[in-house]
Amino acid sequence: MLTSIKAQSFQESIIREMTRHALTHGAVNLAQGFPDFPCAQELKDAACRAIQADVNQYAITWGAQAFRHALAAKTRRFLGREVDPETEITVTCGSTEAMIASLLALVDPGDEVVVFEPFYENYGPDAVLCGAVPQYVPLRPLGRGQSTEWAFDPEELRAAFGPRTRAIILNTPNNPTGKVFSAEELEAVAGLCREFDAVALTDEIYEHITFDGAGHTALATLPGMWERTVTVNGMSKTYSVTGWRIGYAIAPPALTAGIRKVHDFLTVGAAAPL
Ligand SMILES: Cc1ncc(COP(=O)(O)O)c(C=O)c1O
Repeated sequence: MLTSIKAQSFQESIIREMTRHALTHGAVNLAQGFPDFPCAQELKDAACRAIQADVNQYAITWGAQAFRHALAAKTRRFLGREVDPETEITVTCGSTEAMIASLLALVDPGDEVVVFEPFYENYGPDAVLCGAVPQYVPLRPLGRGQSTEWAFDPEELRAAFGPRTRAIILNTPNNPTGKVFSAEELEAVAGLCREFDAVALTDEIYEHITFDGAGHTALATLPGMWERTVTVNGMSKTYSVTGWRIGYAIAPPALTAGIRKVHDFLTVGAAAPL
């Protein structure tokens, strides 16, 4: 066999494969979500200016200083939390890289990682690549049609935690269900993380894309969670620039130190002019 056991144990991305088929056959693409409209002119102009100004060599591995300071200001505004851009922010190649770099930095082979399912498909291969053992907790539909709510059974969630649990991946607002985890549900997750001394990796890429008055709450802002949470986010969806591959991980300094090392050896850094 030419490929590793790891590479054999997951399939190529279904959603990205479907995009290739849709492009080949001119089909409507219901598989991969990305904006089919241009990103803001200001962004395009700024990117062109940066390239013309010769910002074309490696950025600082964990991200250009001005960008990290802007992210800290944004985090203050939306999460109400002071974040140190020098020690708590890592800019990555999309939130996709932020997630796997964080998992590789925090999870050892054999550790268990709790994942709600259905889930954004990258989390499965991410866990395999880390040698982690995923523990799936189902989100079940309550109701039908537009009023469908997705919920987990708190007892099932508790049963997924144990002595080998190292982390939980939480994606809110959630792809693919659209679920926004309630304050009560977030507290249930936080309580188990504290009880089992687990870290939380939260994918918050849809933080600004909520409907019907639903508000986004970052798990990291709950009591006792800042020390044990990596908040993963990115520009792709909010700014309609999925192809730029710009994301970031916010985490306390001790966790960020590990994430930055892994990120450095995975990709060196994100695209400097972007
Ligand atoms: C939940 C979720 N996380 C992450 C991503 C990918 O984000 P990025 O482009 O920042 O890698 C997607 C893209 O569909 C997504 O749905």
